[in-house]
Amino acid sequence: MIEYKRHLVTAALPYANGPLHVGHLCGAYLPADIYVRFQRLMGKDIILICGSDEHGAAITMRAIKENKTPQEIIDTYHELFVKTFKGIGISFDYYHRTSDPLHHKTSQDFFMNLYNKGEFKEIESEQYYDVKSQQFLADRYIVGTCPKCGNENAYGDQCENCGSSLSPTELINPKSVLSGDAPELRKTKHWYLPLDTYESWLRPWLEQGILDGKEHHDPSSWKNHVLGQCKSWIDGGLQPRAMTRDLDWGVDVPHEIPGSKGKKLYVWLDAPIGYISSTIQWAKENNKDWKSYWQDPESELIHFIGKDNIVFHCIIFPAILKAHGQYNLPSNVPANQFMNLEGNKISTSRNWAVWVHEYLEDLPGMEDSLRYYLIKNMPEQKDSEFTWKTFQEAHNNELVNNLSNFIHRVLSLTHKYYKGKIPDFDPDESFEGVSGDELGGFHDAELIYLFDQIHELNQHLREYDFRSALKSLMDISTAGNQLLQNNEPWKIQKSNPETVEVVMNLSLHYVVALSIAMKPFLPFTSDKLQKMLNLPLLKENGELLDALDKIAEGEFLIAAGHQINEAEYLFSRIDDALIQKQIDKLHKPMEKENTASAEPNPDSKYHPVKETISYDDFAKIDLRTAKILTAEKVAKADKLLKLELDLGFEKRTVVSGIAQHYAPEEIIGKQVIILANLAPRPLKGIESNGMILMAEDAEGKLNFVQADEISKLGSIVK
Ligand code: 2FM
Ligand code: ZN
Repeated sequence: MIEYKRHLVTAALPYANGPLHVGHLCGAYLPADIYVRFQRLMGKDIILICGSDEHGAAITMRAIKENKTPQEIIDTYHELFVKTFKGIGISFDYYHRTSDPLHHKTSQDFFMNLYNKGEFKEIESEQYYDVKSQQFLADRYIVGTCPKCGNENAYGDQCENCGSSLSPTELINPKSVLSGDAPELRKTKHWYLPLDTYESWLRPWLEQGILDGKEHHDPSSWKNHVLGQCKSWIDGGLQPRAMTRDLDWGVDVPHEIPGSKGKKLYVWLDAPIGYISSTIQWAKENNKDWKSYWQDPESELIHFIGKDNIVFHCIIFPAILKAHGQYNLPSNVPANQFMNLEGNKISTSRNWAVWVHEYLEDLPGMEDSLRYYLIKNMPEQKDSEFTWKTFQEAHNNELVNNLSNFIHRVLSLTHKYYKGKIPDFDPDESFEGVSGDELGGFHDAELIYLFDQIHELNQHLREYDFRSALKSLMDISTAGNQLLQNNEPWKIQKSNPETVEVVMNLSLHYVVALSIAMKPFLPFTSDKLQKMLNLPLLKENGELLDALDKIAEGEFLIAAGHQINEAEYLFSRIDDALIQKQIDKLHKPMEKENTASAEPNPDSKYHPVKETISYDDFAKIDLRTAKILTAEKVAKADKLLKLELDLGFEKRTVVSGIAQHYAPEEIIGKQVIILANLAPRPLKGIESNGMILMAEDAEGKLNFVQADEISKLGSIVK
């Protein structure tokens, strides 16, 4: 393994266009945070850099949808990000934002550097233009049918159904997202990075870890799915990629360049340069030299990202850095896959997510429980799954029954036997424990075990295997419990106090080692425990390295005679009611949609169009014609009617939120359309099996979407 003098770690800049959910957290931010905290504890020179990504269509589209300015959108979410990251304990050395003038200047200087070197190709091409909204339609401003898979909602830059990367002119039946009109082609000039000419160095760099004829990194340390994606991109043939856009929101192409008027930098050029500007700002405020982190070959660069960002961090940004010539390339890009939620993809538009800021409000003081669960289920090699039930189980079985109980037992016995003072024992003498194990002595097996365990944990982290690292940590607690269980100090305290002193001293060493080694994973709990142990809070400044040195030299981690504070439980059980509340909350927005009470925008005559979905998303929906056989009011529910429906092939009960719009008797016999494959849900104690489609206008008035009288019941609607 190559040893570096310093390390620069980045976590993907999140788009400031919506709150953070658990998928974001376990995709990039938690692994980056754990990695960096651990290395700090090992005394490494390492920084964690991030910031808000505030340009690109992601922002302007959201602004259009919410009828706000892009500035309002980014201010709202940037502020929320800062609060949320702090709340969940992500320890950035710097969190910047790409709307900052320093970033504009940094990315413009970078662009100028490439321009002056002649790295760009100026290409005039015909691009789509929306006459009504008077603008060119880049990337996500245009939708149409994917030429590869037929998905009717492919974007101008990518089809999310088949994953193909597209250019707008490849789309069949292109439409402007802004006006809905078919766009026309107009000539425009842009600056392109000739990725096709970089294949000769990109391939050996990615596949063999060789750059400019020298070993750069060990490619076997990269995740297979990351390398696989890169390889298939290169195999597919690299194309020149435009680094500028015709847009009015973003970083201006430097004005000294002829033809720059109205042009902005491509967001995937400016965003990763955001890592650089964030480092520059950090260096300014901390009196450091930013260049040594980016440009000294003895510095390592690691990007933590989600899998949708792989190509940008493994091909496009490295190409940009290499074209500049003075920057290091990443030694690893340990991208994670995605986390699903209760059987479905996390979706912002459907509000199918656990929002981190809401979690922090709803479950205060339980930051580490979420961190623990997300690390345990981190989608390192394949997609993983969040369920509230398994969250509860992990918390109760592992954090409460194992970790918290072990620590509490040790600390409360220390109070009981020694009034809270760490007992002494003679390390030169050996004692026979109750189980027959030999205890005590400088090279006591228990201390060696701790030493080995922390090294194993370190090794897992260096391999970006966070799940296994967490297990190594929890194994220390399991072994500590075992040590107590095997020796049962409570049974021999009277008859054999000398052995109990040894057992308790060793157990306290387990607790101290845990309090340090847990810091990267459970930082809030580590702080609480340090306070209970009456030890100074960890500054993440080589403390773990010191502890390992002490163990190696047979020194105590905590001095005999040291007085600890009162013992408290670090975690307490989560009951079913709390979990049920979260499950209900998750399902609530969907019910809201069903009962058609979603608030319309008061300024608009129409609800805004929701986020585009793929054909596959649509194909999952099973709509059927049906007839209402009976209808009755549901007791103690003003809005609900219980309906019996005939679907031709079966009869069903559906509870529908239309009671304030229709009397039961006026709808009997109506032919309707129902969503037939919606998961059953209990509403006021009645199981509802499907949902009736209703048209709702902006004032909230409802009308049935009726099936033609002659259609056969149970027919598929598509
Ligand atoms: O996918 C995203 O959320 C992007 N905003 C990530 C940008 S990462 C970096 F390049 F800045
Ligand atoms: Zn496609």
